[in-house]
Amino acid sequence: MTKKTIKLGIAFLLSISAGMSAAPPTMTVFKTKTCGCCGKWVEHMRASGFKVIVNEVASTGEYRQKYGVPEKLQSCHTAVVDGYTIEGHVPATEIQRLLKEKPKAKGLAVPGMPAGSPGMEGSRQDAYSVVRFDEGGMLSVYQKYPAIGK
Ligand code: CU
Ligand code: CU
Repeated sequence: MTKKTIKLGIAFLLSISAGMSAAPPTMTVFKTKTCGCCGKWVEHMRASGFKVIVNEVASTGEYRQKYGVPEKLQSCHTAVVDGYTIEGHVPATEIQRLLKEKPKAKGLAVPGMPAGSPGMEGSRQDAYSVVRFDEGGMLSVYQKYPAIGK
């Protein structure tokens, strides 16, 4: 291979990855009207480049069930993006990684509503994990966040 074809190849690869980041997939969120932290999480997703469609629903329980969230991972809102389910205050970083790596997973969740997760900002950050859940109910830790400011 000549130097020129290598250079062209690199330029081609760069243009592919640039094209991918330029068009973020659209995310659909199901939340209740009164949920303030849900709204803040949506803002976090938009600030990170996601297009977000928000659906105000009476209860998020049926969407958790519909999109296969294990009951023990439940949080305040359920979202779908690119065929994956996102439950709760999952940071955009892990969702971007999920969409890039495209594992055979059902989705990601941050169970409960840990202080300091995106949309739950305050004076402190509790330790929490982003949990990956699979079709068969298998759970694994996708990312850990440490406690800060205690
Ligand atoms: Cu919340
Ligand atoms: Cu929420």
